[in-house]
Amino acid sequence: MKRPLIVVLNGPNLNMLGLRQPEIYGEATLDDVEQLCLQAAERLDVTIDFRQTNGEGELVSWVQECRGRASGIVINPAAYGHTSIALLDALLAVELPVIEVHMSNIHRREAFRHHTYVSQAARGVICGLGIRGYAHALQAVADMIEDEG
Ligand code: DQA
Repeated sequence: MKRPLIVVLNGPNLNMLGLRQPEIYGEATLDDVEQLCLQAAERLDVTIDFRQTNGEGELVSWVQECRGRASGIVINPAAYGHTSIALLDALLAVELPVIEVHMSNIHRREAFRHHTYVSQAARGVICGLGIRGYAHALQAVADMIEDEG
């Protein structure tokens, strides 16, 4: 049987992981995150398509492309989670299980990080678990795909 496709999307500045505020985000790079996701995907018997962009429009287009192509989405929208209604609308439009990930615990940080628009489209939100949050998110989406056939 064909493995289900889960698209793992990363928003702005996540290409700078490892260099960027390591005291908050740690020292792992985005390549390390991709490796961790690939390992989780093997275990879960799913295929992943792992991407990062700094552009809001590109992120919206990538979400739209998931409709009819993917079985689920894991997204770290980074700062666009806090600002982008366009991203929320795209995630609502694709009608797929979505898990939102933030490496840091956004609720222990500045007040402007406490709210995310993306959460309104997400089945669940994982924050504060570092890069391992991505593996938990993949597990959650894979479970939803299996449960919902
Ligand atoms: C982040 C949290 C956001 O508030 C921030 O803008 C990021 C990264 C995280 O993974 O902790 O860029 O999404």
